[in-house]
Amino acid sequence: MPIGFGVVGCGMIAGFHAKAIADIRGARLVAGVDTVPAAADRLAKQTGCRPYYDLKKMLADEDVDVVVIGTPSGAHMEPAVAAARAGKHVIVEKPLEITLRRCDRIIDECDKAGVTLSAVFPSRFHGPSIEIKRAIDGGRFGRLTVGDAIVKWYRTQEYYDSGAWRGTWKLDGGGALMNQAIHSVDLLTWLMGPVAEIRAQTAMLAHKRIEVEDVAIATLQFENGALGIIEASTAVYPGYLKRIEIHGTAGSAIMEEEDIIKWDFAKRRKRDAAIHAQMARQVSGGGGAADPAAIGHHGHTRQFKDVLAAIRKGTRAMIDGPEGRRSVEIILGIYKAAETGRTVKLPLASDPVLKARKTGVAGL
Ligand SMILES: NC(=O)c1ccc[n+]([C@@H]2O[C@H](COP(=O)([O-])OP(=O)(O)OC[C@H]3O[C@@H](n4cnc5c(N)ncnc54)[C@H](O)[C@@H]3O)[C@@H](O)[C@H]2O)c1
Repeated sequence: MPIGFGVVGCGMIAGFHAKAIADIRGARLVAGVDTVPAAADRLAKQTGCRPYYDLKKMLADEDVDVVVIGTPSGAHMEPAVAAARAGKHVIVEKPLEITLRRCDRIIDECDKAGVTLSAVFPSRFHGPSIEIKRAIDGGRFGRLTVGDAIVKWYRTQEYYDSGAWRGTWKLDGGGALMNQAIHSVDLLTWLMGPVAEIRAQTAMLAHKRIEVEDVAIATLQFENGALGIIEASTAVYPGYLKRIEIHGTAGSAIMEEEDIIKWDFAKRRKRDAAIHAQMARQVSGGGGAADPAAIGHHGHTRQFKDVLAAIRKGTRAMIDGPEGRRSVEIILGIYKAAETGRTVKLPLASDPVLKARKTGVAGL
């Protein structure tokens, strides 16, 4: 019997979920549920899955083994908890949720129900990310000194106007950081290790009718002593490929979108030739730099395969709940540092109280 998937939220990202599932032998998209019936019907028509308009009914479908949550970011917790309680394995789109309390609730309920939980960060499954991670774990960088994540993207006003939840504290949970740059924040902490201290500034400079930041700059100190920056924006025309830059006393690597563009080490290894050859034929498209739909689905495919392997073996998914929570904590720390003008130390004891979240105005 193939493993059955059901998606919650049949919007933009659900189309990528459907493609990722279609690429996995032994998996099939069984159902899709949306509070807007036309959205569920559209996915059903495109994929042949069963449309549902009521989550409870989809969760009662015995053919659904794994539930993928693709609702607006601040509406991940309720369906994730309901799915866990129905005994389904749970995959949640990024961010896991928009507060630590809501992330923890998902993690606790999945643990309690004994189901597998994974937070979606496809970039960790891309070859170049894995290559850099291996080089770090193998000590090739020497002492890590600098780690940067740079996401200078562009989103039109029409993008924010395309969904009432976009650009709101309540459902987007933040702006350029919480929605767009979170993939890079996740990669940076995966590669460089935990963040210890944050200083930051945020601003909303180029959009109307949004409550959240469209520019954010943070300086970081990692627990290992290295320093770094996070730059995130949806207000940089025309939008450039995102970059991760990792530097140490014995090596440097720079990744642009899914291409390694610098790979320089004091001590060469045989494997470097293949990476240099790969560098000569860069393959990345525009990524999400200017168009949110210009992303591939292969990272999702690899991540869903990892989740299925974890279910089969009874192990945790590579990006389990606590791993998915890490980027949310860093971003909330950045918001707190920007709002107070003070250094914020991680780990946070609890969710920071953000005035902007209460008033709905960024950059207070
Ligand atoms: N991994 C990635 O690269 C990636 C890319 C885009 C979006 N996302 C994430 O996916 C999520 C959805 O983003 P999107 O761009 O697809 O949004 P979208 O607005 O296109 O789709 C969301 C859908 O959820 C439905 N919905 C809302 N509340 C619901 C509920 N309670 N139950 C069932 N359906 C509900 C809406 O009607 C809509 O059809 C967000 O969390 C976003 O951060 C991830």
